[in-house]
Amino acid sequence: MEGIKFNQIGVSFKGSGSYVPDQILTNEKISQKVDTSDEWIKSRTGISERRISSLGDNVTEMGYAAALSAIEMTNWDIKTIDLIVLATSTPHDLFGSAPSIQAKLGAYNAVAFDLTAACSGFLFALITASQFLKGGSFKRAIVIGADQLSSFVDWNDRRSCILFGDGAGALAIEATNDFDNFLGFDMRTDGARGSFLNLPSKDNKDSIIDNIDFLNGGFSQIQMNGQEVYKFAVREVPIILDNLFRKTNYSSDEVDWLLLHQANQRILDAVGDRLKIPREKILSNLAKYGNTSAATIPLMMDEAIRNNRIQQNDIIATSGFGAGLSWGAALIKWG
Ligand code: ACO
Repeated sequence: MEGIKFNQIGVSFKGSGSYVPDQILTNEKISQKVDTSDEWIKSRTGISERRISSLGDNVTEMGYAAALSAIEMTNWDIKTIDLIVLATSTPHDLFGSAPSIQAKLGAYNAVAFDLTAACSGFLFALITASQFLKGGSFKRAIVIGADQLSSFVDWNDRRSCILFGDGAGALAIEATNDFDNFLGFDMRTDGARGSFLNLPSKDNKDSIIDNIDFLNGGFSQIQMNGQEVYKFAVREVPIILDNLFRKTNYSSDEVDWLLLHQANQRILDAVGDRLKIPREKILSNLAKYGNTSAATIPLMMDEAIRNNRIQQNDIIATSGFGAGLSWGAALIKWG
């Protein structure tokens, strides 16, 4: 009996885009508000400045700008886009911001939804979209990472407020029968360690009528155990990448670029050292933007593509990690 024939479907990377707000918040300016210094922040994190959304910027606007710029790098008719996945923890609308981006783009034939996994969000969204493409359901997808954590930072907490900034990035990906540039992935969560990094809802009790209580909506501010998050990242990220190399039969020597979630330069360097990937292959722009959560990976990727550091067929090992706790890795070939 003849078996069922099917074509293997692969993923091709076609475009990238990004957006950052104009307002620059330097370390010097933060040190006017809390007891810190440019020297302390730079030496402990590598961050010099970050962008802060002005009143007109929000995740919908930033995500739209990044997506449009990624689409412009392709020759796509916007109406041929099937899927838009927006990774964010700070949507402009809690019911979902992706459909607003779809409408602004005029991508009328796409289905659009949000996905939340904090700083792992973009990677989880990229993996999700790739599975839809490889499964044959959709052909063209836009994957966006956008966050506005400045709205949820406790600007009086010097242990966390120095880290975060706002921004957005996006990739345009397409299904193809000719090759597969999405070489492999892995993803993990561990809710038991979730209390290391939280953005909990406000405990804002109210009453409808006698004996019927409810909680008013709203979120408090970022609560972080920096040392534990640091230890988690430096331990788990090399492990997940190492496992991915084994699974895909690649070695770290074959990697052209290590593109990690931009949390702290010391984390980037420590992971690179453990994987024996030299510093010149580690992409970093956190000095300018800080930790933009779901946006860091596509923001960095777009910068490296536009300044010709990442070239066609370059192998990129990427990993996102953060609240949840959540972490993931993907091995991709650009193009
Ligand atoms: N300026 C000056 N001193 C400071 C500051 C500051 N901004 N922040 C903390 N300190 C002090 C502390 O009070 C402490 O002082 P003490 O010894 O008198 O108590 C001292 O500096 C050392 O503090 P540590 O917390 O040990 O500093 P560390 O070297 O660990 O750096 C940091 C802190 C930068 C937060 C680091 O732990 C880190 O980057 N962790 C990872 C955090 C992260 O990446 N979070 C985001 C994850 S992604 C997501 O999903 C959102």
